[in-house]
Amino acid sequence: MLRLTSRLVFCALLGSIYASCPPRCECSEAAQTVKCVSKDLRSIPTGIPGYTRNLFITGNQISRIGPESFRGLDNVTNLSLSNNRISEVESHTFSGLQCLRSLDLSNNQLAVIHPEAFSILSQSLREFNLSRALYNYSSVIDLATSLHWSSMGNLQVLDLSDNSLIYLPPRIFSHMSGMRRLQLSNNSLVAIRNLTLSGLDSLEELDLTLNALKTFTDEGLHELDSLPRASLLLGENPFTCTCGIEPFAQWLNRSQDRVRDAEDLVCAFPPSMGNTSILAVGTLTLECHQRDTGAHLALQTSYVFLGIVLGFIGLIFLLVLYLNRKGIKKRVYDMRDACREVWEGYHYRFEIDSDPRLSQVSTSADA
Ligand SMILES: *[C@@H]1O[C@H](CO)[C@@H](O)[C@H](O)[C@H]1NC(C)=O
Ligand SMILES: *[C@@H]1O[C@H](CO)[C@@H](O)[C@H](O)[C@H]1NC(C)=O
Ligand SMILES: *[C@@H]1O[C@H](CO)[C@@H](O)[C@H](O)[C@H]1NC(C)=O
Ligand SMILES: *[C@@H]1O[C@H](CO)[C@@H](O)[C@H](O)[C@H]1NC(C)=O
Ligand SMILES: *[C@@H]1O[C@H](CO)[C@@H](O)[C@H](O)[C@H]1NC(C)=O
Ligand SMILES: *[C@@H]1O[C@H](CO)[C@@H](O)[C@H](O)[C@H]1NC(C)=O
Ligand SMILES: *[C@@H]1O[C@H](CO)[C@@H](O)[C@H](O)[C@H]1NC(C)=O
Ligand SMILES: *[C@@H]1O[C@H](CO)[C@@H](O)[C@H](O)[C@H]1NC(C)=O
Repeated sequence: MLRLTSRLVFCALLGSIYASCPPRCECSEAAQTVKCVSKDLRSIPTGIPGYTRNLFITGNQISRIGPESFRGLDNVTNLSLSNNRISEVESHTFSGLQCLRSLDLSNNQLAVIHPEAFSILSQSLREFNLSRALYNYSSVIDLATSLHWSSMGNLQVLDLSDNSLIYLPPRIFSHMSGMRRLQLSNNSLVAIRNLTLSGLDSLEELDLTLNALKTFTDEGLHELDSLPRASLLLGENPFTCTCGIEPFAQWLNRSQDRVRDAEDLVCAFPPSMGNTSILAVGTLTLECHQRDTGAHLALQTSYVFLGIVLGFIGLIFLLVLYLNRKGIKKRVYDMRDACREVWEGYHYRFEIDSDPRLSQVSTSADA
């Protein structure tokens, strides 16, 4: 009896805790929404009601989140933790959030991301905002690992803008076959390489504006072509209109229907080409081929010159021979005579040497 009442009291207490709202937060049961906005919180508050579907804990001083942070919040669908100081996300932090569809970690300082930080067993996540969320570009390596370990097959939108990324690890998106929109603008990407975008079979939109792309190599163009359904945004990159830009310019001409801002793409360098449309570059002569043929011509000219010089030297040699023909003739005869004498001398010596009596005579005569 006592036990039953104590259990009842406990349940009532639990109910009242769940019905109430954590300090410094605003809770609306009707809207199933809890907001703890700009309240100087240093950790995720306890006592968030179980009905919560939309949870906003933004603009605080939270620095670490782990598996205990969101326990019992099975119904949370939208979670925003933007504008905090989160630097570490432990494994299985979000594992219990079976309904989570949208996760916003924008404007944080993620430096330590554990491998299973973002694993959600139900694979319910659809939108993931990591805009300006990484502490520095090294964090992308941890991020790539955790994206692999966390099943993200149903993710449709990923925002990685404003992160100062200078490169993307190969296959970073390879487990995201459901991705539709990938936001990579305002980073410092210098190239798109083999396998950078592999696995994005359903991609519909890729934003690469405001990066550090000077051109696209064949490798990069091949990679962009591996996303046949995606529309692309490539503006505000420092395109360099020297000879290397030609394959890109030609590709752009072919791909105008996919590159939404194709007509706005302009050269940033060299200064003389500033503001020239990349599409126009294809029709302009960049003097690449001319310079090529020029170099070829210069090489040919130098060969011809060398030939003439050698020919001239040969001619002089022949002339000298001709002028000295008498002296040479004499010298040749002299030489022939000398040779003959030498030869005969040897011949004589040989005959003497081969006759033992004669050699004996010569030795006794010596003695
Ligand atoms: C989640 O919502 C359902 C129905 O909307 C409700 O029955 C359940 O109790 C909620 N979960 C929690 C932990 O409050
Ligand atoms: C919750 O997230 C979805 C996208 O997953 C969005 O359409 C919806 O507006 C969000 N709701 C709130 C209250 O933020
Ligand atoms: C990024 O930050 C980490 C500390 O979390 C540091 O060890 C690393 O050197 C930094 N990388 C760069 C490129 O600044
Ligand atoms: C991500 O968050 C940033 C700033 O918090 C916002 O500007 C951006 O629109 C968000 N991205 C998406 C895809 O909702
Ligand atoms: C680009 O990102 C940096 C932070 O990485 C930010 O300071 C800057 O305002 C952003 N620029 C734009 C145009 O969004
Ligand atoms: C990139 O892929 C192409 C074929 O798709 C291959 O020929 C090339 O060697 C690869 N480059 C690198 C650096 O792996
Ligand atoms: C490029 O064009 C814009 C307007 O179209 C102009 O404001 C800018 O001064 C031009 N820059 C150069 C280098 O010509
Ligand atoms: C661009 O493509 C069109 C056909 O779509 C072609 O007529 C034109 O010559 C091409 N321009 C260049 C520079 O290749």
